[in-house]
Amino acid sequence: MTDTPLPEARQDLAHGLAVVIGASGGIGSALQAALVAEGRAAGVVGLSRTTQPAIELTDEASIAVAAAHVAALGIEPRRILVASGILEGEGARAEKSWSHLSAASLARAFAVNAIGPALLMKHFLPLLPRRGPSVFAVLSARVGSIGDNRLGGWYGYRASKAALNQLVRTASVELRRRNPQAICVALHPGTVRTRLSAPHRTDHLTVREPPEAARMLLEVIERLGPQHSGLLLDYRGDPLPW
Ligand SMILES: NC(=O)c1ccc[n+]([C@@H]2O[C@H](COP(=O)([O-])OP(=O)(O)OC[C@H]3O[C@@H](n4cnc5c(N)ncnc54)[C@H](OP(=O)(O)O)[C@@H]3O)[C@@H](O)[C@H]2O)c1
Repeated sequence: MTDTPLPEARQDLAHGLAVVIGASGGIGSALQAALVAEGRAAGVVGLSRTTQPAIELTDEASIAVAAAHVAALGIEPRRILVASGILEGEGARAEKSWSHLSAASLARAFAVNAIGPALLMKHFLPLLPRRGPSVFAVLSARVGSIGDNRLGGWYGYRASKAALNQLVRTASVELRRRNPQAICVALHPGTVRTRLSAPHRTDHLTVREPPEAARMLLEVIERLGPQHSGLLLDYRGDPLPW
């Protein structure tokens, strides 16, 4: 981390419940496994479309039920990690040209990558404790950075992640007023070998396995301070341009 140095690693985040949303995914399942292996959280809850309760991001009622389930556990969540997202499939396309744009695929990308996480904020941010440190971290993507966009392509994915980044920033402002030590942040995990990246050329990139990516993300999360809330950071903790 260059511009905004991270404080020393802290223990206090680990005392609460850790919640992983998108726990069925490549990175999400590795995050859940790493949190369980770490053995410090008061509990680790993984939520996905196949858990009970299930979270389907296009169904706000399912998000509300899942949040109520977490609240009913009676342990304050101090780490809520959102590891869901789509690049293509289920109606979304990784468009290479404007000629591939369709209203339906753009709507799908926004529904899953931006609107779903916004509704997660609505229902899960109020569960964070009013005192002490806590983190709501959403996996975004470097390609959602407008300033960093030199290659083009992937219109829907890029635009929905840019929207997600703005939602994270906006929520961070509101969250700070509620608890100055609570952090809302967007994280870029790097290129990771998962279902999402599998169909795409990655031979020119450093590709990490999910367990390594999860370890790096958890290290960044542990060293976050309130000054990082509202930022887009990469897997090293370095800020990325909007
Ligand atoms: N892999 C990379 O190289 C890379 C790079 C940059 C950013 N990211 C970001 O990292 C995050 C995790 O990606 P990944 O690589 O781990 O992908 P992944 O293995 O495909 O996992 C995606 C997760 O999102 C969930 N999901 C998709 N649509 C959903 C919906 N409508 N409702 C609820 N859950 C839904 C999936 O659930 P199901 O199992 O039910 O489908 C799965 O848990 C994403 O936000 C992605 O944009 C990844």
